[in-house]
Amino acid sequence: MEKRKIAYSAIQPSGTFTLGNYYGALKNWVNLQKDFNCCFCVANLHAITVPQVASELRKRTFESYALLLATGIDPNESLVYVQSEVPAHSELTWLLNCCTYMGELSRMTQYKDKSQRQGKNIRVGLFDYPVLMAADILLYQANIVPVGADQKQHVELCRDIAERFNNTYGKTFTLPEPYFGVSGRKINSLQEPTKKMSKSDENQNSYISLLDNKDTIIRKFKRAVTDSEAIIQYDPENKPGVSNLIEIYSCATDKKIPEIESEFSNAGYGDFKLAVGENVAIQLETLQKKFHEYLSDKGELERLMKMNAQKAESIAYRTLSKARKRLGIIEIKK
Ligand code: TRP
Repeated sequence: MEKRKIAYSAIQPSGTFTLGNYYGALKNWVNLQKDFNCCFCVANLHAITVPQVASELRKRTFESYALLLATGIDPNESLVYVQSEVPAHSELTWLLNCCTYMGELSRMTQYKDKSQRQGKNIRVGLFDYPVLMAADILLYQANIVPVGADQKQHVELCRDIAERFNNTYGKTFTLPEPYFGVSGRKINSLQEPTKKMSKSDENQNSYISLLDNKDTIIRKFKRAVTDSEAIIQYDPENKPGVSNLIEIYSCATDKKIPEIESEFSNAGYGDFKLAVGENVAIQLETLQKKFHEYLSDKGELERLMKMNAQKAESIAYRTLSKARKRLGIIEIKK
């Protein structure tokens, strides 16, 4: 049998997750489990590259882990773990720091954007964030990295670092590729439908949180910005609002776009928005139920975290050890 390829991805446990995160990433991760050996990580060390409140970060780390399980990621099949529980990530970051150029990191567009918002005191961790991300990916010898377009540059940098390391010290790392395979859908803001749906948006009506209740969901869809044409037709260029709602409906029901257009050919925007809201609410209700179940059993959650961290550790350590040897870092048997 052909060996399955390895897929690696991670989410940061910061802020509430939105419908955009779910349809754009998490829902697709679940499907990847069919074809790949998957590793999913709660990247709490990435989260501290911008200021966090400790108690919040702690809480969100558990919540993010519970959310991954609630979406259908199987903790016995896939590797699903918390980044900080596997110290090899931090150590490989250091080794890779010594093979990465300042110029490369200075060119990262996400760094440029984020550092601008930080004012004078830009943290080294923020600058180094892509190297930590490279360490995540390389430790597990990942072949593909399912990410949004905003992370593509980081995966390319990871590949460059790995290639340089391999060329200089001998083959150590698998070269990963960004992966947009199972169409991660790009869900836009409900208020400004040409912008990506974002949890950091000040206007709460612009996004659906995965933990919003049914009434809130329906209210937010009712207020969604559309146009004055009253035709339910997919045309992202001229009708971004309606097209975004069609995308969302399609994700919630697994119906194809033409099917949706004909289903609502005689309907008005009011009815359509209600249908979108109701279907999203039904889907999220199931997700929320599982989320709360996982979260209410801290013991079980910790057991799964521990078991997966141990598995991750043994895989990660093999790679780390190879990299150390290549660099001439001694390892004395304990
Ligand atoms: N930087 C990614 C994001 O914010 C999260 C992440 C951390 C990641 N490590 C990763 C994604 C490794 C893919 C692979 O979305």
